[in-house]
Amino acid sequence: MALGQLQNPKSKLQNSLTIQISTLKRQSPSPAGLVGGCLRVVGPRFVGTLRSAFASFSLLRSEFAGPIFDSMPFQTTLTHYYARRAREYEQIYQRTERQEDLQNLRERILATFAGKHVLEIACGTGFWTEVLAGCAASVTATDMSEQMLAIARAKQLDPGVVTLAQADAYALPGFRRHFNAGLAGFWWSHVPKGRLPGFLHDFHRSFVPGSTIMFVDNVFVEGSSTPISRRDGDGNTWQMRRLQDGSTHEVPKNFPTEPEIRATLAGLATEVKIEFLKYYWVLTYTAGHHA
Ligand SMILES: C[S@@+](CC[C@H](N)C(=O)[O-])C[C@H]1O[C@@H](n2cnc3c(N)ncnc32)[C@H](O)[C@@H]1O
Repeated sequence: MALGQLQNPKSKLQNSLTIQISTLKRQSPSPAGLVGGCLRVVGPRFVGTLRSAFASFSLLRSEFAGPIFDSMPFQTTLTHYYARRAREYEQIYQRTERQEDLQNLRERILATFAGKHVLEIACGTGFWTEVLAGCAASVTATDMSEQMLAIARAKQLDPGVVTLAQADAYALPGFRRHFNAGLAGFWWSHVPKGRLPGFLHDFHRSFVPGSTIMFVDNVFVEGSSTPISRRDGDGNTWQMRRLQDGSTHEVPKNFPTEPEIRATLAGLATEVKIEFLKYYWVLTYTAGHHA
């Protein structure tokens, strides 16, 4: 897929190098330490070998996920978690009590994106891509996880409308700025608070001035949401999530208030509208212009 090839090759290398640095800091005889030793031997010039080491590290990490990896970069851990969750992901959309809210979201998406050229990031299994396919002029839906994208591809959405491609939401390829609308479902909550303004600034570069952007995300509902396991020093909240294969993963998941969302968008957006449903919040705004 051509768009997949557009992915910024630096981003993967940077991820690998970040992991290398994090790993080298560890002196314990943990699996991470063992891989750190391996990385020390191969050196940063041998990118292919480094990537193999990274793959081994991901495997080891999948077996030993837990608090020892807390200092790993957010996005790498998150991508790994979702890759592993891909096959069971859409169960979250089958919960009976959420159907009314989900229908509400569907209608908003249909109304907002009708006739638009949409860039969707972190599209996952393409649950919302399918809705976009029914109303938008074109949809480019991207995600970091090939496992997620494989499920989206299996939906066989109209290829005349939908293009699926792998892309890191933090390092989007140059799309020639032809999009006039953007969608991100359940992504804002996973972006570290301190990283949101920079992420939004870069994200907006993919759009023509005046584009409509929508973020949809979860409201924390006691008894329904996964409990918060801890709050880190930067104010991000985390959840311990268990997958059907028995693995557990600590995942960043923030539940911002309306004032927090508005403050984050200061200087980046106009016409900001935020609505809180029972289980979800919906943010729409007009993206600010960027050079
Ligand atoms: C909560 S899921 C949302 C999926 C979809 N948007 C939806 O609403 O059903 C978060 C998605 O973010 C993806 N992801 C994680 N890290 C990413 C990154 N750095 N860039 C792009 N996508 C990423 C995961 O693979 C996963 O599909």
